[in-house]
Amino acid sequence: MSDLDGLVSRALAAFSAAGDAASLENEKARFRADLSAFQKTLGSLPAEDRKAAGAAFNGAKQKIEAALEARRVELADAKLSARLAEDALDVTLPPRGRGRGGVHPVVRTWQRIEAIWRSIGFDVADGPEIETDWYNFTALNNPENHPARSMQDTFYVDLKDKDGLPLLLRTHTSPMQVRYARMHKPPIKVIALGRTYRVDSDATHSPMFHQVEGLWIDEHISFADLKGVYTEFLRRFFESDDLAVRFRPSFFPFTEPSAEIDMKLKGRWLEISGSGQVHPQVVKNFGLDPEKYIGFAFGSGLERLTMLRYGIDDLRLFFDGDLRFLEQFS
Ligand code: DAH
Repeated sequence: MSDLDGLVSRALAAFSAAGDAASLENEKARFRADLSAFQKTLGSLPAEDRKAAGAAFNGAKQKIEAALEARRVELADAKLSARLAEDALDVTLPPRGRGRGGVHPVVRTWQRIEAIWRSIGFDVADGPEIETDWYNFTALNNPENHPARSMQDTFYVDLKDKDGLPLLLRTHTSPMQVRYARMHKPPIKVIALGRTYRVDSDATHSPMFHQVEGLWIDEHISFADLKGVYTEFLRRFFESDDLAVRFRPSFFPFTEPSAEIDMKLKGRWLEISGSGQVHPQVVKNFGLDPEKYIGFAFGSGLERLTMLRYGIDDLRLFFDGDLRFLEQFS
């Protein structure tokens, strides 16, 4: 084997041994140097041999260049295939699935309350969260200087109503008593659920919270009727047939007499709702004759009902958006 044949076969072996583009280019530099060293020897050959030797050299150089190019393509193809394999999506794998959404525990309570009261024969109403001073306070017999009307307790909105009084975020669902009663004829049996707002924030208070308001207006009803339906509601909400309920004297400007509703859960009396006989002035504000109609009302907090039902001790958990908490209810 001539020197040239040896050079070609060493180059071909070295190229196919090169595992990546960088080592291939290193080999290329090495064999180019060998080739040009060989080329220089051509000049010292006798003239009659030079032509054949030149042709052999060119042949060898072409073989090396062709092998180099072929190996470059091979390595580039291999690199591409490796990347494609790495990035490949296996469409035959089973899907991971989307996370299942769930109903928020307070909304779950909302839905259950609606279903229970509907089945007791109550209508479900809905009203604005931005209220006028009249519906939220005046119509409900709140005196002009009542602390609830202060900036410290109530969120006011930078807009005025037609009386020039600032609008506010309703502090309770009670204005719905007035809105509904002014639009419907007795007998009235209605609940209204929704968001309410107060400047208050700690383990048992949130600036936004939920209430359910109840109103029953008829000609011949009594506290006994209110106690009957509310006890039925609590027994069904807490799924306990022998849950005890008591009414304890209290005060609200829009009821007279007023009562706190307490229930006995696991041997303990717990306050669960405000209630009362609708004040005659408020019945007048409904547009009804207080000599003819008598009304009973209650207002309960949804967060409190939810906390008692599930044994939750911090109300802020409802609003943190932590899935580890929320997932337990779905
Ligand atoms: N609105 C009262 C509050 O937010 C709750 C309430 C008490 C509502 C007595 C009523 C009621 O309808 O009769 O504290």
